[in-house]
Amino acid sequence: MKRKTVLVTGGLGFIGSNLVLHLIKLNYFVIILDKKTYSSNLMNLKNIKRNQFKLIISDINNKLEISKIFKKYNPIGIFNLAAETHVDRSIDNPEIFVKSNVNGVLVLLEQLKKYKKRNHNIKLLHISTDEVYGDIPKRKTSLETDPYRPSSPYAASKASADHLIRSYYRTFKLPIIITNCCNNYGPKQFPEKLIPKLILNLIQNKKLPIYGKGINEREWIHVDDHCKALIKIFKKGKIGESYNIGSGDIVSNNIISKKLIELFKTKINKDCKSRIVFVKDRPGHDLRYALNSNKIKKLGWKKKLNLNKGLFLTMKWYLENTQWIQKINKKKYSNRLGLKL
Ligand SMILES: NC(=O)c1ccc[n+]([C@@H]2O[C@H](COP(=O)([O-])OP(=O)(O)OC[C@H]3O[C@@H](n4cnc5c(N)ncnc54)[C@H](O)[C@@H]3O)[C@@H](O)[C@H]2O)c1
Repeated sequence: MKRKTVLVTGGLGFIGSNLVLHLIKLNYFVIILDKKTYSSNLMNLKNIKRNQFKLIISDINNKLEISKIFKKYNPIGIFNLAAETHVDRSIDNPEIFVKSNVNGVLVLLEQLKKYKKRNHNIKLLHISTDEVYGDIPKRKTSLETDPYRPSSPYAASKASADHLIRSYYRTFKLPIIITNCCNNYGPKQFPEKLIPKLILNLIQNKKLPIYGKGINEREWIHVDDHCKALIKIFKKGKIGESYNIGSGDIVSNNIISKKLIELFKTKINKDCKSRIVFVKDRPGHDLRYALNSNKIKKLGWKKKLNLNKGLFLTMKWYLENTQWIQKINKKKYSNRLGLKL
């Protein structure tokens, strides 16, 4: 049977490269388009056979390249994960966030509008975030129909793209679906994000820096569960709709840090001296995100990995992949960012 082709933008990054593995296992041929920014890593494609994918280093803003890919490879789907993703960086330099996360999406939509006339079966799955809903009070959860109240330039850029995409569905009937996922963790995440940063500091017996008082709550999902949800939505989701993807595991940063310390001490090194230190809070830091994920459950998806097991597997991956850690540029994640006001 002929393999179906899909395009994954941002496929050299954390979630994108994990998604590529899932798609290849399902026998898709994957075109990866990635700008190869600081958070990407060529080692993320290690162990994938050359005849299973094609890597194109380019920007989603490159109209010509996108149009060439559509014409040459005839993909049946686009998973758009290309984005600037670090909230602190968006505080220091919001412009690149608008360029990649908003203008880049506009380019994809315009090219899709042209190409859809030739390929009626194509669809675009756009990967967005729970941060678009803004701060969520205790005991409340966000529904897909809730208004957007983004707090950071990152969240605002993602929210803008979601609005733009919805408008292209309504006005031009483009075949699009939006997914809003909670915080991911797992293998291959660039260590400027909380969980890999804490794990690397534990391995090196360093302090664990936590913003503010550590009371900010996030919903955490293992990246494998997120990827499976994306594929489920790609196959069964309704065009024009949004789907929240949450795990229900909502905990504070203090609890995440304590879980990681305990795991590390009981399973890896009981003499580890790492401890939490509180550092200056992020400006505009949302206190809580929490999703209502009933809609995606109706498609037959549910998370498989509980938080403790997922954290342990993630820690194990970082311990076993020292080469991956050595290859990333330390300077890019050791300095504190996002304090400019
Ligand atoms: N990590 C999370 O917790 C999370 C949660 C919900 C949604 N998301 C969304 O999922 C997507 C992937 O996030 P991630 O955590 O894997 O991020 P990441 O930073 O690890 O990867 C992003 C990838 O996109 C590429 N990229 C950036 N700008 C580009 C451009 N203009 N053209 C082409 N490629 C470009 C980068 O080189 C990188 O490989 C993002 O859209 C993000 O908003 C992430």
